[in-house]
Amino acid sequence: MSGSKLRYQLQAGGKLCGELRVPGDKSISHRSIMLGSLANGTTRITGFLQGEDSLNTLRVFQAMGVEIDGPTQSGEVVIEGVGLHGLKAPTGVLNVGNSGTSMRLLSGLLAAQKFDCELVGDDSLSKRPMRRVIEPLTQMGAQIESAEKGTPPLKIHGGARLKGIEYEMPMASAQVKSCLLLAGLYAEGETAVLEPAPTRDHSERMLRGFGYEVTVEGNRARLCGGGELIATEIDVPADISSAAFFLVAASIAEGSDLTLRHVGVNPTRTGIIDILRLMGANIQLQNERLVGGEQVADLRVRSAPLQGIDIPRELVPLAIDEFPVLFVAAACANGRTVLTGAEELRVKESDRIQVMADGLHILGIDALPTNDGMIIEGGRLTSGTVDSAGDHRIAMAFAVASLRSQGSIRIDDCDNVNTSFPDFVALAGRVGLYVRESKV
Ligand code: S3P
Repeated sequence: MSGSKLRYQLQAGGKLCGELRVPGDKSISHRSIMLGSLANGTTRITGFLQGEDSLNTLRVFQAMGVEIDGPTQSGEVVIEGVGLHGLKAPTGVLNVGNSGTSMRLLSGLLAAQKFDCELVGDDSLSKRPMRRVIEPLTQMGAQIESAEKGTPPLKIHGGARLKGIEYEMPMASAQVKSCLLLAGLYAEGETAVLEPAPTRDHSERMLRGFGYEVTVEGNRARLCGGGELIATEIDVPADISSAAFFLVAASIAEGSDLTLRHVGVNPTRTGIIDILRLMGANIQLQNERLVGGEQVADLRVRSAPLQGIDIPRELVPLAIDEFPVLFVAAACANGRTVLTGAEELRVKESDRIQVMADGLHILGIDALPTNDGMIIEGGRLTSGTVDSAGDHRIAMAFAVASLRSQGSIRIDDCDNVNTSFPDFVALAGRVGLYVRESKV
């Protein structure tokens, strides 16, 4: 049935028990393909996320002549790196689907190639702002054309000679930072990026893992162009952004006791744990270890009564992808939760402030959207049909809400769960969150 969309249906109630390893980290998976392709030598990756977003990045490099084997069923990928100057001109447009990370990071390194290319995305990505990368890349000497509103498609002209700049980002964005550092690999002199608040630092860590010198002092990350990347091995930890659904699920569903294995707990990603703990959640980190430059732990979570809080602003960039499910936690908490300083949520895969407020209203929750956040009064979730607006994290967040709803919840437009969390339905069912899927 072409054009049919996936719908989730959930009965009310339940609890989560047992253990689970959620799929690989999306941010690290993207970067492993990019750096592995540009390295000299063979890079081996394990735990690669087999979601549509990271597969799109993989296909883009294959389209530029990089030999990439896998992923195998268990997530192994082998890349024969072509070196920083070994990419070949693609024969068609480069389609990255729903993935903002692919488009923004790729624009940095494609701006430095000898050939022209065009980056396109799906309807959601085609509405997302790209000036945030086009402007600083243009300052570096890149030539990029976008649609009128600064949105995709991006036409990138080859042959530009980039020069390093020092760039103070107006927003806290790991995608912009990473885009500029990747462009900086090719630029003359030094490229420095200053961030207004800490954001995920996987690019800096992985560049070092590939033998490239990156200096980080305070909020400033810098590197010099003209070096080389040396192939390495990468073990991708489980994605804390996917684990987040289960951290909230087990917290709100009475009687739950769940362990999430091998989760990446890089301190630039653990805002979800800090915020849930401030709300009263019972989350323990066990077996903390370092794997390929990234911290990893097993997370044990048991249900606990949650309290509404004012979410500290400094935690916002450290939990930026977790707000859809944090709003569900707030709806189940006692009292009021206030989020501010999160205007970036309006330009994610959907307007996550509006779409979540609309869904929570349908489910009987008093949720007031503001320009840069939301005010949520904890209450009783009722039942109803909500629209995920094609946003993977919103679909999964409302699935979690069913654990505390009074009646069943239907969620429309869930196909994009596959961009970040293939097998969500099967894995959730294994620990007690039962999702019935249908095509409509
Ligand atoms: C990402 C950075 C974040 C995040 C996105 C992944 C990355 O975006 O929301 O899902 O891998 O660098 P911003 O940089 O736009 O905040």
